[in-house]
Order: sequence, then C-alpha cells, then structure tokens
Amino acid sequence: MRLIFEHVTKKFAQTKAIDDVTFDVEASCVAVVGGNAAGKSTLLKLIATVLKPDEGRVILNGIDVVKHAHLIRKDLSYLPEEPALMDTLTTRDNLVLFSRIKKASYSEELLRNLRFEPNSKKLVRNLSKGSRRKLSICIALLGEPKILVLDEPTNGLDEEAKQAFWRELGILKEKNVAIVIATHDTREIQRLSDIVIFLDRGRLVKIESLNSAASYVQL
Ligand SMILES: Nc1ncnc2c1ncn2[C@@H]1O[C@H](COP(=O)(O)OP(=O)(O)OP(=O)(O)O)[C@@H](O)[C@H]1O
Ligand SMILES: [Mg+2]
Repeated sequence: MRLIFEHVTKKFAQTKAIDDVTFDVEASCVAVVGGNAAGKSTLLKLIATVLKPDEGRVILNGIDVVKHAHLIRKDLSYLPEEPALMDTLTTRDNLVLFSRIKKASYSEELLRNLRFEPNSKKLVRNLSKGSRRKLSICIALLGEPKILVLDEPTNGLDEEAKQAFWRELGILKEKNVAIVIATHDTREIQRLSDIVIFLDRGRLVKIESLNSAASYVQL
C-alpha cells in the first residue's frame, strides 16, 4: 500500500486534530501511535473517507480519497474506535444483516478463535464491552477487504482474544491485505507493522521503519 498525506489539516472548531501532516509511506502494515488526543482516530477517519480534510490531500494507492471515495470504500473496511452495531438486534442478526449488506458470509472459525459465541436471544445493546468488540471485528473482516483501517481493535479484549486477533491479522497480512492500525499494543506493533507513524497533538512527530522492505519520506 502506498499512502500519501499532503499538508493535511483537519480542524474541529479551534482544535487542529490533524495539523499540516505530510508523509509518503509504502508498506503493507502501517501503525499510527501517540497519546490521547494525538489525532490517531482522525487520521484513520480521513483515510477511511469518514471525514474530509479541511486542507491538503490524502492519496491511497494513487487514488485521491476525497475525489474518488466510492473507489476507496469498495476495497476498504473500517473498524471504528466505538463499535457501530445495530443495538436493537441480536448478535446473530447483526452478523446476518452485515453479511447481506457486504454480500459475504461471516467466518464461524474467527468467531470460535475469538471465543465468541453469538447468543441468539441477547440484544447487542446488552453485550459486554469485549463481546461488542469481538462482534465488530467479525463484521469489519467480512467480505475479504483489500485494505483494513482499524482503530484500537484490541481495546477491551481479554488476553486470549487479543492473541487470536493478532494471529488473524498476521494471516491477513500474509494474504496481502493492507493494514492501517491505531494501537497502544507496542509489542504487536513491532511484530506486525512495517512503518510506525508517531503523532502528537495533531502534528507528525516522526516515522520509523521496522522493515527494510518498507519505505517512507517525511517532508
Ligand atoms: N468530532 C469531533 N468534534 C470535536 N473535536 C474532535 C472531534 N473528533 C476529534 N476531536 C478532537 O481532535 C483531537 C484529536 O482527537 P482524536 O480522536 O483523533 O485523538 P486520538 O489520538 O484518537 O485519541 P485517543 O487515544 O483518546 O483515542 C482531540 O483534541 C479531540 O477532542
Ligand atoms: Mg482514538
């Protein structure tokens, strides 16, 4: 995946969530790290076409994500920081509904690996935090997306589910799925990521390459 940010700024009132960020990276797995309010979620939303930049351009694999959002959305799956689920439906009905929308079938194996057993009666609004996360992960991975944009995906997962999730992501990376991930899980960043982008209060602090096959330019 080639990801270019050209002088990108995104403001919310007086806050510059992303402040004149410019970089050009080529890697299969890009991690975005930084403290709270650093701008990680905003950066991911700009890539996933959930938000538009106020200034600058975001170019993913040669495609301007604002001008050709429909092309980006065709190949990209975005896991938001807060799971976006149909709260008044059961877990199984959520899986069925999103599978139909994405014209794909969900993976019973992934459910098993995450130790997630969809309860046919329980409404999603009554699920535990970790179970909501597991369900939203299963939905995000539906339909073999080519690009995954994941915002703190292991937040709220127990250790066993975390390991299962990272294993799954490793398999997807080997299958050439491109991954952009915001996470605080530094051990896993080192294992999986090729490039790490460090943000602080909306500014790009530095970029580090963990894999010699990956490349970056920080302007
Ligand atoms: N919709 C919004 N309205 C107003 N301000 C926002 C909005 N979204 C983000 N911000 C602000 O932009 C800044 C960056 O927020 P963002 O959520 O991108 O940070 P983050 O790095 O993901 O933080 P965290 O680690 O807490 O998830 C923060 O100051 C936040 O308050
Ligand atoms: Mg965030």
